[in-house]
Amino acid sequence: MKRSTQNLLIALAAGSLAFSTLTGCTDHSRPNVELIQDMMESPAIKPQEYDENSPNHSGMRLPPEGTQPYGFTPYKYAKDIDGATGNKNPLAGDYSEDTLKVGIKFYVTNCAVCHGEQGQGGEKLSVGSKMALKPPSLWSPKVRAWTDGQIYHVITMGQGLMGPYASHIPQQYRWQVVNYVRTLQKENK
Ligand code: HEC
Repeated sequence: MKRSTQNLLIALAAGSLAFSTLTGCTDHSRPNVELIQDMMESPAIKPQEYDENSPNHSGMRLPPEGTQPYGFTPYKYAKDIDGATGNKNPLAGDYSEDTLKVGIKFYVTNCAVCHGEQGQGGEKLSVGSKMALKPPSLWSPKVRAWTDGQIYHVITMGQGLMGPYASHIPQQYRWQVVNYVRTLQKENK
């Protein structure tokens, strides 16, 4: 190897060692030195950040009026229990295995801790027994006499001490839960 090439290689090796020591490249527990600005720190505004140009200085903007998020299903039913009385159950009378399977899944996950596996009410249940107002039985003459629309409404909006379950049970599965509650009522005459 020529002397000049040898010198060049030595210089390169020394240079890369100095570079990695300087920038911390050898210590992977520390962040690197930022040689080119804006590569690690993007100038884009993140959702929770302060934005001096936004009207309320929030990085997040309100969507334009009248727009809907992709996949959003508007709620087409009345928003009060009386108005909900007439809401028609599109699955009325459907107690097929497929329908009840969905109903059971959501009922057991969301409702049973308070109303019981059988819908008997929450006197002796871990969560129900701790509530100031014990979760009522779903077989009561009152709920039996309710329309399907009213049960659907309470699942969506809650009632008094019971919170809404709209974010837990998507709209397309709530009528199946209603039908499962009806099944529990029939089984526990
Ligand atoms: C955290 C406990 C809790 C959970 C979970 C819960 N409920 Fe309730 N539920 C209550 C309480 C308490 C009441 C009575 C509220 C009131 O009237 O102030 C109630 C009331 C009701 C009523 C009206 C009964 C009546 O006699 O007025 C229905 C129907 C009902 N719940 C169904 C459900 C269904 C279906 C689910 C599951 C999606 C569910 N609940 C989940 C606690 C709960």
